[in-house]
Amino acid sequence: MCGIIGCVGRDGETLETLVHGLSKLEYRGYDSAGVALTGDGETVEISKKAGELDDLRAALEEYAPAGEVGIGHTRWSTHGPPTDENAHPHQDCTGRVAVVHNGIIENYQALRDELATSGHTFRSDTDTEVLPHLVEEGLDSGLDPDAAVRQALTRVDGSYAVAVVVAGVDAVFAARNDSPLVLGEDDDAVYLASDVPAFRDFTDRVVYLADGEFARLDGEGWTVTNIDGETVEKTVDTVDWDPEEAGKSGYDHFMLKEIHEQPRALRQCLRGRVEELGGNIEVGDLGDLSPTGVQFVACGTSYHAALYGAQLFQQAGIPAQAFLASEYASSPPPIGDALVIGVTQSGETADTLSALREADKRGARTLAVTNTVGSTAARECDHVFYIRAGPEIGVAATKTFASQLAALNLLVLAMAGGNARDIVPALRDLPGDVQALLDDSNAEAIAEVYEDSSAYFFIGRGYHYPVALEGALKMKEISYKHAEGFAAGELKHGPLALVTEETPVFAVVTGDGESARKTIGNVKEVEARNAPVVAVTDGASEVERYADHVLRVPETHPRAASVLANVQLQLVSYHVAKRLGRSIDKPRNLAKSVTVE
Ligand code: F6R
Repeated sequence: MCGIIGCVGRDGETLETLVHGLSKLEYRGYDSAGVALTGDGETVEISKKAGELDDLRAALEEYAPAGEVGIGHTRWSTHGPPTDENAHPHQDCTGRVAVVHNGIIENYQALRDELATSGHTFRSDTDTEVLPHLVEEGLDSGLDPDAAVRQALTRVDGSYAVAVVVAGVDAVFAARNDSPLVLGEDDDAVYLASDVPAFRDFTDRVVYLADGEFARLDGEGWTVTNIDGETVEKTVDTVDWDPEEAGKSGYDHFMLKEIHEQPRALRQCLRGRVEELGGNIEVGDLGDLSPTGVQFVACGTSYHAALYGAQLFQQAGIPAQAFLASEYASSPPPIGDALVIGVTQSGETADTLSALREADKRGARTLAVTNTVGSTAARECDHVFYIRAGPEIGVAATKTFASQLAALNLLVLAMAGGNARDIVPALRDLPGDVQALLDDSNAEAIAEVYEDSSAYFFIGRGYHYPVALEGALKMKEISYKHAEGFAAGELKHGPLALVTEETPVFAVVTGDGESARKTIGNVKEVEARNAPVVAVTDGASEVERYADHVLRVPETHPRAASVLANVQLQLVSYHVAKRLGRSIDKPRNLAKSVTVE
């Protein structure tokens, strides 16, 4: 996710402070970076570069913007590929205004059209660029910079954390709506950032901005106001994390942080794509694809999402199959008129790319469902759909799996129609349901009970089968213990021989329909062999009668229940691995992006 830094003060070291802050935000993932400083000149001075921070540093060797007041940004692309032009800061037509932004401006196309019609020239493909032009309009109409920024933001729908500088004005103007922003202060300077690590080396005194608040940072310090310009009293908190730990925002591991980021990741995935009242789904041109058949190709966690996606399409009446990408080319299925969908968080997994290329060679239309703008899959496929989970640092995929499931629900609704009315409210409630579950989970206590087990088994049926596979994958990856996921009905066809009192079986059972009844039958088979049973359930069925422990999920649509059950299983694996002292964020032998076949 993009990172913002701002700084006023630091006595001649503003540029160094900004670049240092950007280096501390690198962990968030980025594909370009830039800075803007303002002094007495008539325009803001800018340097920005696609690529690594070292590319920006090299550019700064050639040309170093000067000024005491500045903003900086690491960009993680959402609109437009990673290029120098698309990197932030963005400017207005005159060069007086520079803006950095995190978030998504949903109505940017309408604003851009309107501004272009009134003579503004755009230089990038980004949604952000509408902001400096809106501020320019305000300044031209005689508003002061503070009022011009406020007015610009009233035009914008969506999420944002923004920081703005205006030439000749010794201040940074900032605001947030649904995207984090925090101020910092020491005796000499004031700072602004999307996350504390950006300035944690300079100060531990922080002020967290709330949605709808505006901040002004200048030589006098900082002030925070509400939408009406009234002063808001804020408390200065002291953070006690050391700078090293700060990137994890107080969590012990990135994995735990990312598990807790799932409500936000889901909100971002759904934002602007679900019209809640009518149940309409907006996925741009993809809605017109109308495939007669779908083949998914993917690896690991993404393959589990693909298995879920294939069920969604089947249910909607479109023949669909999920293939392990590494197996796809060895025994290519007949393609016909199928749409081949590569599900890949990174967009760089070699096996998935190779399967997509094979499909392309054989004349199929291809679609990448990915988290990474500008990735190879995004560039090479005919179509792309972004899951918008934000960057994932932990090697074990967590929030991206949740967002993949949500994204696949949107795709199937848009491409195949089906009964949107019941799933749309469940999707809308999903971020809140995940949050409720996270606030109340007993997964840590369950992990404590079973940390010494010799193996862990996971069972589920229908939409919960991929969750059983994913639960087991997460457990193996980070605890290094034996774990297997099974279709609940398959248990009696062999795996039951492995089940003993030493092997807890996690059974995902929600609702009280046919599927739940059948899985309860499988649970009874397990119970009869004295294996401990942990039911992951919404309480709608009688499964708890046969369970030793329960992990509760809110009652919802079965498709959404899979996302919720998976969160409980992520937490159990995390806590088992933590108790065993494993290297959770970087498990042995594994890499975040597997770029070899
Ligand atoms: C598991 C995990 C891997 C990835 C797999 C595919 O936690 O992260 O199994 O899911 O390597 O990666 P992407 O989705 O980037 O193609």
